Amino acid sequence: MQPDHQKLSEYYAVAPDDIALSDIDTARIPAHVSIIMDGNGRWAAKRGLPRAQGHVAGVDALREAVTAGVRLGFDVFSVYAFSTENWRRPKLEVDLLMGLFAKTLVAELPLFHQENVRLELLGDLEALPAETYRVFMRGLDETAGHDGMTFALAVNYGSRAEIVRAAQDLARLARSGELDPDDIDQDLFSSHLYTAALPDPDLLIRTSGELRLSNYLLYQLAYTEFYVTDTLWPDFTRWDMLRAIRSFQSRSRRFGGV
Ligand code: FPP
Repeated sequence: MQPDHQKLSEYYAVAPDDIALSDIDTARIPAHVSIIMDGNGRWAAKRGLPRAQGHVAGVDALREAVTAGVRLGFDVFSVYAFSTENWRRPKLEVDLLMGLFAKTLVAELPLFHQENVRLELLGDLEALPAETYRVFMRGLDETAGHDGMTFALAVNYGSRAEIVRAAQDLARLARSGELDPDDIDQDLFSSHLYTAALPDPDLLIRTSGELRLSNYLLYQLAYTEFYVTDTLWPDFTRWDMLRAIRSFQSRSRRFGGV
């Protein structure tokens, strides 16, 4: 998507010392940027606050990241908000996160409308608490007609479960005679993943310095460029987004070729 250059320069007006909008080529913005938002708990612990406060601060960082994505002209911006393994956290924290997802989505719907953002959800949504599920469905419904940036939220998402589910879908189709197993190729397989409607990410950002994928988009990240920053998620700003893009633009992507 072409960025609106006027709005983009205004948004990135007051630059810190090490990075400015002029450091990136706005004609080569990655189409799909994805983030593993990590470090909310450590951000809170550093300040002697309960973990919940870290997640609340994480919402502010997410709002800024969505706005930066819109201004920069991403086609797709996806984030890992809750994994299939996150149910192992204390019930109080899980309940807080589920409540926060619902509350935040309701509060941010005007921003989605204003910026023409379409919501997409990745994961096993049926297992979510009823209120969170209801709000998510409302978000999908109300933004379905928007044709600006797609914001994809991975909730109760696990990549291995997603791949197994795709294999089961295809096996069922083969058993019923609707599909010849020889016709299964990468495009068909991808079309049975939660990300069926999305291009693969060009750039994956992980905050808080951890060097692992945590069961996120294992199939889709085959040729994605990675950027890891020590910045904890609540401290991630529009400038960190620019730093990640500057790093992305310094790479030579060969997709296995020369
Ligand atoms: C990782 O930090 C963050 C999460 C598990 C939750 C992400 C949620 C938000 C950013 C809140 C806003 C989200 C939405 C969609 C409204 P962590 O708790 O693993 O941090 P730690 O590794 O320092 O403990």
